[in-house]
Amino acid sequence: MSTTEQRVAIVTGAARGIGAATAVRLAAEGRAVAVIDLDEDACKDTVEKITAAGGRALAVGCDVSDEAQVTSAVERIAAELGAPTILVNNAGVLRDNLLFKMSASDWDTVMNVHLRGAFLMSRASQKHMVDAGFGRIVNLSSSSALGNRGQVNYAAAKAGMQGFTKTLAKELGKFGITANSVAPGFIATEMTKATAERVGMGFEDFQAAAATQIPVQRVGQPEDIANAVAFFTGDAAGFVSGQVLYVAGGPLN
Ligand SMILES: NC(=O)c1ccc[n+]([C@@H]2O[C@H](COP(=O)([O-])OP(=O)(O)OC[C@H]3O[C@@H](n4cnc5c(N)ncnc54)[C@H](O)[C@@H]3O)[C@@H](O)[C@H]2O)c1
Repeated sequence: MSTTEQRVAIVTGAARGIGAATAVRLAAEGRAVAVIDLDEDACKDTVEKITAAGGRALAVGCDVSDEAQVTSAVERIAAELGAPTILVNNAGVLRDNLLFKMSASDWDTVMNVHLRGAFLMSRASQKHMVDAGFGRIVNLSSSSALGNRGQVNYAAAKAGMQGFTKTLAKELGKFGITANSVAPGFIATEMTKATAERVGMGFEDFQAAAATQIPVQRVGQPEDIANAVAFFTGDAAGFVSGQVLYVAGGPLN
C-alpha cells in the first residue's frame, strides 16, 4: 500500500466513552474509522462527529462476543470502508460483585465481551493486516488487572488482555503487525458513573474522592486514553510491541 492511502481503523465499543474519543482521535489522525457497538444507531453520534470534521466513518452494529456477527462486521467494513489494518479492542462491560455473590453468568459475560471479543475481532482482522504487511492492534486492559475488590471477573479478563496482547505481538510481528495494551486508571465515563451509582455516591463526589488518590490529582478523561492509543496505532510506533502502558495519572503498585 502507498503511504498516502488512508488506513482503516476499527474501534469496538465506540458509541460512547473511551471508544468514542478514540474513534474521533484516530479520524483526526487521518484514519477512516469503523465505529462498532452493540446497537448501530447508538454509533451515529460518533460517526457524525467524525464526518462533520471531514473524516470518513461507518457505524456498525455488532456484538463482539458473537462469532458470526464479528465475521460479517469485519467483511462489511472491508467492503465499505477498506481493509482494516488498525484494531482497537475497547468494548467492555462490568458485572461487579464479591466472589461469594458473583453468578457464573456475570463471570461469563465479562470473559466473553473482553477476552472472547478481542480474540474474535483480532482473528477476523489479522488477515487484512497480514495482506497489507502492516497492522496495529491495541487492547484495552485496566489498572484492575493488578487486582480489585469486587471485580474478580473483570480483573481476570483485564489481566488476560495483557497475556493476549503479548502473544499477538510474538505471533504477528513478522507480518509488520504490532500489538500493545493500554491500561487506564479511573476515567470519567458511563462505566465509572455506573460504579458510583452502585456504591451509592454522586458521580462528582466519586470523582473527587478518586482524584485525591491519583498523583496528578484529577481523574482521567476519555481523550487521555485516546492519546495513548493514537501513539500505539501510529506509523512511528512500529518498533513498540507487546507493551502494557498504564495511563492512570501516576504509577500503580
Ligand atoms: N472508564 C474507566 O475508568 C476504565 C478504566 C479501565 C479500563 N476501562 C476499559 O476501557 C474500555 C471502555 O470503557 P468505557 O469506560 O468507555 O465504558 P463505557 O461503558 O462507557 O463504554 C463501553 C462501550 O462498549 C460497548 N459494548 C459492551 N459490550 C459490547 C459488545 N459485546 N459488543 C460491542 N460493544 C459492546 C457498550 O455498548 C459501550 O458503548 C472498556 O474495555 C473498559 O473495561 C475503562
